[in-house]
Amino acid sequence: MPIEIRADPLEFHLFNDRISHVMRVHPDGSLGHLHFGARLAEGRSYAHLGPADFRGWGNRVGEAIALELPVPGVGDFGVPALAVRLADGSTVLQLRYRSHELIRGKPDPAPDAGGLLPMTYVEDPAEADTLVVTLVDEPSGLVVHIATTVFRDVPVIARHVRLENEGPAAIVVEEAHSVVLDLPDARWDMLQLSGTWASENQVTTRRLRPGRQSVGSERGTSGPDHNPFITLVRPDTTETAGEAIGFSLVYSGNFLAEAEVAPFGSTRVRIGINPSTFRWTLDPGAALTTPEALVSWSGAGLGALSHGLHELLRDRLARGSWRDRPRPILLNNWEATYFDFDEDRLLTIATSARDLGVELFVLDDGWFGRRDNDDTSLGDWTVDRRKLPKGLAHLAERVHELGLSFGLWIEPEMVSEHSELFIAHPEWAIGAPGRARTESRSQYVLDLSRPEVVDHLEAAIGGVLRSARIDYIKWDMNRPITEPFGSGLEPARQGEFFHRYVLGVYDLYRRLTTAHPDVLFESCASGGARFDPGLLAYAPQAWTSDDTDAIERLKIQWGTSIAYPLSGMGAHVAAVPNHQTSRVSPIDTRAAVAFFGVFGYELDPTTLGDADRSAVMDQIRFYRTHRETFQRGRFHRLRSPFDPGDRAAWMVVADDGGSAVVADFVILNHPVPATERLRLAGLDPAARYRIAMWPGAERASGQAGGRAARQAGVRSDEAIASLGNAGVRGGDELMEVGLSLHAHRHEIAAWGDFAARVFVLERLGDAGAQTAGAGPAAPGHPHG
Ligand code: DGJ
Repeated sequence: MPIEIRADPLEFHLFNDRISHVMRVHPDGSLGHLHFGARLAEGRSYAHLGPADFRGWGNRVGEAIALELPVPGVGDFGVPALAVRLADGSTVLQLRYRSHELIRGKPDPAPDAGGLLPMTYVEDPAEADTLVVTLVDEPSGLVVHIATTVFRDVPVIARHVRLENEGPAAIVVEEAHSVVLDLPDARWDMLQLSGTWASENQVTTRRLRPGRQSVGSERGTSGPDHNPFITLVRPDTTETAGEAIGFSLVYSGNFLAEAEVAPFGSTRVRIGINPSTFRWTLDPGAALTTPEALVSWSGAGLGALSHGLHELLRDRLARGSWRDRPRPILLNNWEATYFDFDEDRLLTIATSARDLGVELFVLDDGWFGRRDNDDTSLGDWTVDRRKLPKGLAHLAERVHELGLSFGLWIEPEMVSEHSELFIAHPEWAIGAPGRARTESRSQYVLDLSRPEVVDHLEAAIGGVLRSARIDYIKWDMNRPITEPFGSGLEPARQGEFFHRYVLGVYDLYRRLTTAHPDVLFESCASGGARFDPGLLAYAPQAWTSDDTDAIERLKIQWGTSIAYPLSGMGAHVAAVPNHQTSRVSPIDTRAAVAFFGVFGYELDPTTLGDADRSAVMDQIRFYRTHRETFQRGRFHRLRSPFDPGDRAAWMVVADDGGSAVVADFVILNHPVPATERLRLAGLDPAARYRIAMWPGAERASGQAGGRAARQAGVRSDEAIASLGNAGVRGGDELMEVGLSLHAHRHEIAAWGDFAARVFVLERLGDAGAQTAGAGPAAPGHPHG
């Protein structure tokens, strides 16, 4: 992934095998943008893609001229990358090229405020090249370093901007976006991941129109309303074909993602900290670094865009010892007990979970202070001896003796009014002077913009972590910020509050994950309200949604997978009737959805009957067998739950291509047998695959194929035969013709709603390929 630099005009071409990003310095010293997208040949100038001889706006005022860092007030009337107010009150900047630097690899950000911002990284300088172009506004002394990294292996560039004040007077930064990208036309749809609590990351697409269209957050976190991610797709782009450009912000606070169509028909996209709640004073000598933006490109559909992001976020954004380790199958007691538990009940649940094959027992909310409901005790991180008379360490030991690891829930950023912490430090709760604080879920947010609050939380939560054998932490955050005000900030700096809060959260995460490198952190914010790339850097997995209903999860996980890897998505099998929807779905359908993520359970195993217990044991065996594939394989979305038709399908292919798991979901059942075929993806067209079905014949439970088989009086291998998929099929056939989803009408009649069929594909080696005929698939469970 070299960076080619041409002189006269000075032109920078960053490229890898799949993408190119080309910029040039114009005669007036501004940094022009020439191209981002498909790979262009090296050894050529692309200066003709921009204005021929741009010497300033002059009689071009108002035209859509593509610059890497547009600023307001000088002739560009599009949305800016950067806006400031200088000491004399003026807002005009004229940024001119000063220098550039080529860096092999990707340096970590400087250790000022930017040092706390999570960013992608490399482990070997050969993995990426970075270009830093420095511009300066001579009259004010504002220096802008634009850092762009091109990775060798993924079609993504990383961009952040660093501002330095070399001038004699303070400069107020009113907008500082992480990236602005001008595109030459507007034939795009904007795909966004929007929703609400328990309904996060719903895929929403709209045609771009003249003017601005944006999503963002002003609630202090990235939020469940909109994810800090948008993609532009061509109107005919599909999962496997067509162009897509993705914009992700590595940030966990207020953001803005916006596309603006100019009168001339070009499109400008920007993503960064939301300027509506941001204003930062740069004193002489001070610096400010923006969060990192990731701009990804695909010419082969949305699926390929996701694959690049998955790899980068999983392997070069997430940090720490858990990045590459297989994640344990957990059982969380929240929906099993809520606040109503004691040590005996927890150990009974943990023992039952252990017997089923669970690996990690997680104690959720309610273990501290006097927290019998959500009105009290946040901030008092001492064990509630009424519930756990022998303490946390004792419980953790007992859980370990069972052969399980032990996990614990915390919500460090919060304080309840009924807490010792609030009595001692009411001034640490965020609130505007002289005004009532708004309580939400009976709690306030602690002011993490204050270093002493971060120090206190490091000591308090660090103390909990040292007090017992804790292997996993679920870090929750259950309300947005209201009455924003930093009590440690002077009036002129109140605009820094939200960003300083986020930096405080990162600081606390950094301190705790550094001190406890073997603890697996999972982030959570009432489910997926802070499921963003920023937190993924510290906590390699996140609780995807409080909605544990498998059918609802089809949409939530589908949407989330567009921008995030399966290794980041916590997904659990919950009890029925489901606690969010009262829906009753088969236990194997619930598992078939949760397999495609970091798998676990959210139920009381002691209440399961024999059939469900044996189902769970089989599910756990199955997930263990394919864990590597589910957590690190390549995920392909096949059939969208957002499309009409009451169906959904997706699959994951092992990294080495040796196996794949396909899931087909029947949301609402219909009686007429279709002859349809599901075209698979990501297989080796030259290889042959043996197809089996999960679960096998020995456990024909409520799962669609099994139940159909049982009711039809056939074994599940015969059921597969009836589907027309018996034996061995070529990768080419499975991708070009498809896997048959056909079933006999008597089978379909037995499915009911909410059914799932899971197919396991094993690639045959040379020997297998020679001897394989079209005989039936291996009977029974393929991976018992
Ligand atoms: C919200 C989380 O998303 C739930 O999973 C659970 O941990 C509760 N908070 C506990 O208060």
